[in-house]
Amino acid sequence: MRKKTEMDYCTILLVLILSVKLCESGITSSYLRNDDLVHDMPLDSDVHITQGDHEGKGVIVSWVTPNEPGSSTVVYWADNSGNLKKTAYGIVLTYKYFNYTSGYIHHCTIDNLEFDTKYYYQVGIGNTTRRFWFITPPKVGPDVPYTFGLIGDIGQTPDSNRTLTHYELNPAKGQTVLFVGDLSYADAYPFHDNRRWDTWGRFIERNAAYQPWIWTAGNHEIDFAPQYGESIPFKPYTNRFFVPYKASDSTSPLWYSIKRASAYIIVLSSYSAYGKYTPQYKWLEKELPKVNRTETPWLIVLVHCPMYSSYVHHYMEGETMRVMYEQWFVDYKVDVVFAGHVHAYERSERISNIAYNITNGLCTPISDQSAPVYITIGDGGNLEGLVTEMTEPQPSYSAFREASFGHGILEIKNRSYAFFSWHRNQDGYAVEADSLWLRNRYWKTTLEKSLTAL
Ligand SMILES: [Fe+2]
Repeated sequence: MRKKTEMDYCTILLVLILSVKLCESGITSSYLRNDDLVHDMPLDSDVHITQGDHEGKGVIVSWVTPNEPGSSTVVYWADNSGNLKKTAYGIVLTYKYFNYTSGYIHHCTIDNLEFDTKYYYQVGIGNTTRRFWFITPPKVGPDVPYTFGLIGDIGQTPDSNRTLTHYELNPAKGQTVLFVGDLSYADAYPFHDNRRWDTWGRFIERNAAYQPWIWTAGNHEIDFAPQYGESIPFKPYTNRFFVPYKASDSTSPLWYSIKRASAYIIVLSSYSAYGKYTPQYKWLEKELPKVNRTETPWLIVLVHCPMYSSYVHHYMEGETMRVMYEQWFVDYKVDVVFAGHVHAYERSERISNIAYNITNGLCTPISDQSAPVYITIGDGGNLEGLVTEMTEPQPSYSAFREASFGHGILEIKNRSYAFFSWHRNQDGYAVEADSLWLRNRYWKTTLEKSLTAL
């Protein structure tokens, strides 16, 4: 009996040793993965959003489906709505440019959104469904803080990629991009190869699908090429980038305005007629008196061609528009004019040159505290490279200039103050290579007047 018990113990010990050995050989997890085949990511792309109304309660969603029209609807829901989904219905179009036929370009406006709310949205059908999100701006008001990014002339080179990455990783966290023109540079390719519009759309999607880009047309958007039978200016641009121009009583998507938070943003077209009696002139003449600085204290103008630049390249190309509109910018106390076109950075002093007529000889810009600051931010990094040649000596109207790629950030703090900073690509994400506190022109004068009256 005793011998049997000893044998039992030996058997148990052997089993335990074997078990330990077996355990050392590894564990098979009990998790069972679904082995369904998955599809490659869809070619549907070029998703970008922009403001869809005048106040910021609307968003235009645009995207391209390459092979089939699919659906132009957008399904969207507020983050705080318990997934209560709504549907907006858009339109689809195609265009031809020389030997290129576009994919199906969808534009869908979502309106009546809540302010200051995160929304998810979904485009596509079946296995091409893609989901993104955006945050609507706060309700328009005089002291609403808001942060804009400034990017221009970006193209689609490794430098462009660096600019976009720097903008995305800037700790200032831009909420909306004010884009000052020259987008894809497709016109730099043989026959204005419009496939470069498609690749550009894919490039910017990583940011432009999540925050609005406010579009300004540049010279590379004109695509005027009668030698290829293409004589309608801005054809690819206006088919691909919808803007809410009718909401500001404009008759053209090339000039319009929006309100966003505490800013009133006027977009102008350097390459459309702007002389007296032209549609753009008449629109701007009516538009400027409409701006209520008690509601939107910050009056910002976006235009592609700078009116003050001291670089040799493109020198004085903006002079004729300056002659037409500078008086209004001073009269209506525009805070800042952002432009691109010159592939470098420059910031002006507050100056004006409105005294000059062709006989009085007063052609030197003078210090003018009612004038805007002019900032050239055409340094996005396109295939044409930097412009480095500057007029010498540096004119007195030029406060800071540097030929480096980068982007800008405009942080509006309240009705009185905003902080502008310029960020070069070669620096760390938080480095400000140039910066300036902007004092609001309207509220500064109002305060001074009331102090004088005391
Ligand atoms: Fe340009």
